[in-house]
Amino acid sequence: MDARTARDVSDLRERLGAARKVCVLTGAGMSAESGIPTFRDAQSGLWSKLDPMQLASEAGFRADPRLVWDWYAERREGVRRAQPNAGHEALAGYERRHPGRLTLVTQNVDDLHQRAGSRGVLRLHGDILLDRWLEHCPHQPSLTDTAGAIPGRPPKCPSCGNLVRPGVVWFGEMLPEGAMETAERAAFECDVMLVVGTSGAVWPAAGLAQVAREAGAHVAILNPQASAIDDQAHVCLRGTAAGVLPGVLKGV
Ligand code: OAD
Repeated sequence: MDARTARDVSDLRERLGAARKVCVLTGAGMSAESGIPTFRDAQSGLWSKLDPMQLASEAGFRADPRLVWDWYAERREGVRRAQPNAGHEALAGYERRHPGRLTLVTQNVDDLHQRAGSRGVLRLHGDILLDRWLEHCPHQPSLTDTAGAIPGRPPKCPSCGNLVRPGVVWFGEMLPEGAMETAERAAFECDVMLVVGTSGAVWPAAGLAQVAREAGAHVAILNPQASAIDDQAHVCLRGTAAGVLPGVLKGV
C-alpha cells in the first residue's frame, strides 16, 4: 500500500469509528473473490459473453424459458458452492460491534452477506435462490409460494401452466417494494457511505452515492478499477473487497 492509500485508509477508519450512521452499498465485485463472476468485467464478466436481454429480462424468459431457467440453475449452484470472503466477514463483524449503526444495501442476488452474519440486508435486486411465479397465479396461495408446482425446467402450475421463475429483478422490472426508499433514507442519513465492488452502471442503485454526498456524508469507493460514480466519492481506494475491507474495518 502506498503512503497516500495508507493515509486514506487511516482517515476512513477514523470516520467509521466515529460515525453515528454508516451506509454500505455492495455490487458484484464484493463476491468476486468468493468465485462468483461479476457482470461487466471485460474478460470474466457475465455480460461480456452473454446477452443480458436474453437471460435477464421477462421477454427473454418468455422466448426461451428452459434456456433461462437452466442458466439460473447453474448460477444458483455456483452461489450454493461459494463461501463468504474476508470482506463479507469484515462487514458483518463491524455490524456486530455497532448494533444499529450500519445499513447494508446490496445489488447482489447471492446470500453471502447473510451467511457471513449480516442482518437486515436490503437486497435491491432480489434473491437468486428464491422461486416465484411468473404471473400472479390464482391457483396458488401466494405469489412466492411455489410449493405446488410440477417439477420441470422450469416448474409449472398443475392447474394453469403458469411458470416458476427466479426471484431476481430483471431489466425493466420494479425493485422489491420499499427497498429503494429504505436504502435512500439510509444514504441520506449516514455520516459515511462506503461503496464496494460496483461499476455504478445500474440505476437507481448507482444514485445512492450521490444522495449520500449531497446530504453531507463522506463517500468512499472501494474498487480495483474506475467506476461510473467515482466523481461522487471523496476518496477512491483501489483494491479488492477481501483484500482491503478487513484492514479498513479491523478494530473500528
Ligand atoms: P458489475 O459487474 O457491473 O461491476 C462489478 C465491479 O466490481 C466492477 O467495477 C469491478 O471493477 C469491481 N470488482 C471486480 N473484482 C472486485 C473485487 N475483488 N473487489 C472489489 N471490486 C471488484 O456489477 P454491479 O455493479 O453489481 O443486476 O452490477 C449492477 C447490476 O447489473 C447487477 O446487480 C445485475 C447486473 O445486471 C441485476 O441482477 C438486476
